[in-house]
Amino acid sequence: MSKLLKKITIIKPDDWHVHLRDNEILKKVSQYTGKFYKRAIIMPNLDQPITNCFRSISYRRRILNSMKSNTQFQPLMICYLTEKTSPKELKQGFSEKIFVGAKLYPNYSTTNSKYGVKNIKDIYHLLKIMEKIKMPLLIHGEEIDPNIDIYDREAKFIENTLKPLRKKFPELKIILEHVTTEEAVSYIEESDSIYLAGTITPHHLMLNRNNMFINGIQPYLYCLPILKRKKHQIALRTVISSGSKHFFLGSDTAPHFHKNKIDVFGCAGIFNAPSSLLCYVSVFEKMNSLKHLQSFCSENGPNFYNMPINKETITLVKKPHKILKKIDIGNNVIVPFLAGEKLDWSIET
Ligand code: NCD
Ligand code: ZN
Repeated sequence: MSKLLKKITIIKPDDWHVHLRDNEILKKVSQYTGKFYKRAIIMPNLDQPITNCFRSISYRRRILNSMKSNTQFQPLMICYLTEKTSPKELKQGFSEKIFVGAKLYPNYSTTNSKYGVKNIKDIYHLLKIMEKIKMPLLIHGEEIDPNIDIYDREAKFIENTLKPLRKKFPELKIILEHVTTEEAVSYIEESDSIYLAGTITPHHLMLNRNNMFINGIQPYLYCLPILKRKKHQIALRTVISSGSKHFFLGSDTAPHFHKNKIDVFGCAGIFNAPSSLLCYVSVFEKMNSLKHLQSFCSENGPNFYNMPINKETITLVKKPHKILKKIDIGNNVIVPFLAGEKLDWSIET
């Protein structure tokens, strides 16, 4: 029987956008990222954000401790930028490999962004340093002006903020995180791939904004940037299946307690670590583009970040895999993306 199973072996992937949280949540969720990915960019938006080297070193240690017997996994740490970020700390953190990059959260743009930047010009002095030392800038690319329609915030960010920024700092390496629109896709495709890249999540590839309102409101599909129209979903699917080198895997796995997802002011974020890689495989398969799976998952990211490509491999088998229904954490639960559903692909163990 097993001879008939469709199989694909690729270089072990990395996830270039992950939220692992801290404490009890970290201890329960990190294993899912560690199971599929060799390295992961760890987002710094904790309740107390990772704004300096000291916090980053101790957070990294807590992450490694949470991985228990998985000693292969490498967390790649990111500095949370604020107007008060110390230039010295930023330089030192990058040269000593404590940080692989720094993240721009526009103020109140998403979860734990209240310390984020109100006006980009207030951190131009930091960006100048980053351009000089070749430190990548990761961006949550949405405008924060409440008068801008939520569905237009990414496209407007490109026009109003990113284009002027790139004009001022043409050699700054930028990753536009979790891109969701055709505007972002074409802007990145037309740019020089040494300086600008984008990450794409499985949920933005699989879903569009209609899915949030099927059979009532679906709080579990609320994430930021918000799911967009179908034409944008198609643009994302088309660009990854073209084999573009400008885009790579960033799942944006973002666990929240169930009670906070369904609260009156529900939290944004989708916990997809148990299924993310399997979802990407399904999308590439549906797009008849499995030949480009490896570059998206395992090559374009390290090439952009100037890191070695992993030596290990992972084998994916076309065999049904059921996603777990929930994770218990004390008296709380976290419900994963596609909980209880059967996916077409699994990993060979
Ligand atoms: C993320 C989170 O919960 O930390 N939420 C989300 O909806 N994606 C933050 C982020 O990446 O915007
Ligand atoms: Zn995120």
